Amino acid sequence: MTQARQRSTHTAIQVVAHRGASDDAPEHTLAAYRKAIEDGADALECDVRLTADGHLVCVHDRRVNRTSNGRGAVSALELADLAALDFGSWKDREESPDWDPAPGELTSVLTLERLLELFTDVRATGRPLQLAIETKHPTRWAGQVEERLLQLLNRFGLAEPPADEPSPIRIMSFSGRSLHRVQAAAPALPTVYLMQFVSPRLRDGRLPAGSRIAGPGMRIVRSHPGYIERLHRAGHRVHVWTVNEPADVELCAELGVEAIITNRPKQVLSQLGRI
Ligand code: G3P
Ligand code: CA
Repeated sequence: MTQARQRSTHTAIQVVAHRGASDDAPEHTLAAYRKAIEDGADALECDVRLTADGHLVCVHDRRVNRTSNGRGAVSALELADLAALDFGSWKDREESPDWDPAPGELTSVLTLERLLELFTDVRATGRPLQLAIETKHPTRWAGQVEERLLQLLNRFGLAEPPADEPSPIRIMSFSGRSLHRVQAAAPALPTVYLMQFVSPRLRDGRLPAGSRIAGPGMRIVRSHPGYIERLHRAGHRVHVWTVNEPADVELCAELGVEAIITNRPKQVLSQLGRI
């Protein structure tokens, strides 16, 4: 039995499905999120961007070229343009032999609103599923991404979680400014500061104002495991991305991180002895 498996019996590491179960189904589609829910993920992760007509859609890249049969920047396209595209057929069927492309809603562009409907339906069954929403390149929109996001969360009754239970929603970003805006407008929503590298001013484990949880990339964890201890000593929970390899899961478990964000929720849950 691995150390990760031993440790999992006394620490609950949250397993977060990155862009859904994105190894098995095309990222950010309803198919990928349904698969993650079926696999038993504790939480879902998604990226959000604003369309030209002001809708929040779950798309990672600035352009739709990689993950659809269309071309162009999300910010220059309207929701109706995106709805005409296929976000499923790019998925490599040799890499994911179980992936069975189904036309229609399962592989069309996913709005955050539709994802929140699915999310709230699952929570209504009593399952404490959580959702981590990442604001992508929010500086371009000078606050509009956060404003739209909070409007939508408010509509679903998710912007003001009660203080005495874990928030179903948290907001993540590589932009400290974006998280600061979220904190100012919705102080009860947890915020996760994502890091690709450790900036010299944050080496002691501090986070920028407005950020509550640390979100280091796996590369940081491998090269500076001591930094994870510093974050913990400074009182921060640590959510690591994107953790797909068993050795990385093992290291995260040894370091006692609070959440693992992975394209392979089923494999990670199995390694941690959860299924
Ligand atoms: O969960 C954080 C992680 O998703 C950040 O990187 O590029 O996959 O959005 P990226
Ligand atoms: Ca992301």
